[in-house]
Amino acid sequence: DQITLEVARYRPGLDTEPVMQSYQVPLREHWAILDGLTYIKDHLDGTLSFRWSCRMGICGSCGMTVNGDPQLTCATFLTDYAPGPVRVEPLRNFPVVRDLVVDIGDFMEKLPTVKPWIIRDVDSPVEEGEYLQTPEELDEYKQFSMCINCMLCYSACPVYALDPSFVGPAAIALAQRYNLDSRDEGAADRDDVLTSPEGIWACTFVGECSAACPKDVDPAAAIQRYKLTAATQAVKNLLLPRGAR
Ligand code: FES
Repeated sequence: DQITLEVARYRPGLDTEPVMQSYQVPLREHWAILDGLTYIKDHLDGTLSFRWSCRMGICGSCGMTVNGDPQLTCATFLTDYAPGPVRVEPLRNFPVVRDLVVDIGDFMEKLPTVKPWIIRDVDSPVEEGEYLQTPEELDEYKQFSMCINCMLCYSACPVYALDPSFVGPAAIALAQRYNLDSRDEGAADRDDVLTSPEGIWACTFVGECSAACPKDVDPAAAIQRYKLTAATQAVKNLLLPRGAR
């Protein structure tokens, strides 16, 4: 059996707009969309460009739009789309470098602004040895640590589509990963970016980011939780004297 892949082809600067090109690939059980693309590259058209690395849903580099939905193509199977055709396009909301490869430079610039690393208070004495955590303390942030930077959430987010200055789901979820870590003392250092107009308040809680996430990170929950923290702190700042906040 075969299945048709309709694949977006585009060379910015050379082509005026993307065109869809059809290829017939074997419809094999356990073949992912990525296997179909690799078959095209190896046997039908070596000029097709796409990005991948691990083939096991870990590296986050194979995200594409499959029949309209953002998907990891190494974890999405051809048989789920039989009898086809299957439409494969680049992730939405990012500039296309070529064919199915997008430029995620915008995210790479935003990510360090939320300081996604453990920050310790330099004025407080550092304990000797390890910083031990209870299972409950680990559970607080573990879900948000599962992000693989695949950009499916940015591709699904209608806020980011309308306003690319939005810090965005993955970066905010990763900030929460560290804010909720018992070893971290840097929440105040992340506040400026996260509570800016481009931060948590820009999110309208559509929830498409969480629906698209292949790792169940639930960025929408991270953002709503941060909104609650920020709003509570703002009320405390208004009502309580400095020492009691
Ligand atoms: Fe690594 Fe798909 S190739 S997540």
